[in-house]
Amino acid sequence: MTYEERIISGDIEGVQEEMVEKSLRPQYLRQYIGQHLVKKELSIYIEAAKLREEALDHVLLYGPPGLGKTTMAMVIANELGVNIRTTSGPAIEKSGDLVALLNDLEAGDVLFIDEIHRLPKVVEEVLYSAMEDYFIDIIVGEGPTAHPVHFPLPPFTLVGATTRAGQLSAPLRDRFGIVSHMEYYSVKDLTDIVLRSADIFETRIEESGAVEIARRSRGTPRVANRLLKRVRDYAQVQADGVVTKETAHSALSMLQVDDKGLDIVDQKLLRMMIESYNGGPVGLSTIAANISEEIETIEDMVEPFLLQNGLIQRTPRGRIVTAVGYEHLGYPLPATEN
Ligand SMILES: Nc1ncnc2c1ncn2[C@@H]1O[C@H](COP(=O)(O)OP(=O)(O)OP(=O)(O)O)[C@@H](O)[C@H]1O
Ligand SMILES: [Mg+2]
Repeated sequence: MTYEERIISGDIEGVQEEMVEKSLRPQYLRQYIGQHLVKKELSIYIEAAKLREEALDHVLLYGPPGLGKTTMAMVIANELGVNIRTTSGPAIEKSGDLVALLNDLEAGDVLFIDEIHRLPKVVEEVLYSAMEDYFIDIIVGEGPTAHPVHFPLPPFTLVGATTRAGQLSAPLRDRFGIVSHMEYYSVKDLTDIVLRSADIFETRIEESGAVEIARRSRGTPRVANRLLKRVRDYAQVQADGVVTKETAHSALSMLQVDDKGLDIVDQKLLRMMIESYNGGPVGLSTIAANISEEIETIEDMVEPFLLQNGLIQRTPRGRIVTAVGYEHLGYPLPATEN
């Protein structure tokens, strides 16, 4: 199974997936389930910015993939009642690209930069003055005709999203007035998300079926929505179309998502560490090579959940499988551990 096919993978499943995502995305804070702390903070700052008729301070959203960062950026723009322009770090190659984007903004608008940790250095430097004082100075032309140009900008709000706040340079991070950490969702919140999505899909679902999906969604709304779609298909073909606890359970077993929400890649990683390396320590690059995944994929999409659930641990010499990890996969503990 490649990363692209994986149930937790990112925004890469094409146009149809995009349409579905769009219909599922909450539009306003009151529809946005979970992230209670982030919502509370943002609602105050948004309200204050509106009262003062100023642009909202720049917002940095960080946390693992699929937790609703892109959704939150759109919610912020909707709540402010302004336009949003969306781009991503790697898409802005030259400072000129950034100038073009900024030039299009109206006062108070939101510029959303996804994967902001991947912004090229030269672009990042142009962003500093844009964020701080709403202007940019760039050199236009080449050779003898080259000359500096000073662009004033309308006040705007930059919303940056990243899965890795640690990779953001300090000067960039410091220019965000609001820094919000997105947390994995509780089963309760995920259950509500599943029920809400089922309602949008017009799928009949029992609460216990929603809980079953929520429990195995690794704390992630994107995963919850994907699992719901597969379970819905299963229920339609194998049962009477109603998502019950039993249909959810059978469908998820068929998908090889276990009762902690670990999928084939997670299971493969743990099994490999146990069988080939006696539970570790194993370096990240060795892990990546052994299960044919990119290092970045493991760091962003696999490891955080395994760490969070105490199945593996990080040590200075590499990752180790914990006693919980051994037990979960049904292996006896190695003799050295006790
Ligand atoms: N709080 C929420 N309530 C309901 N649905 C949500 C919520 N958060 C996210 N979703 C749904 O989960 C999916 C993923 O959300 P989103 O694309 O915003 O995640 P992301 O954090 O931007 O992920 P990535 O880091 O991969 O870009 C979307 O379909 C969205 O509708
Ligand atoms: Mg996103």
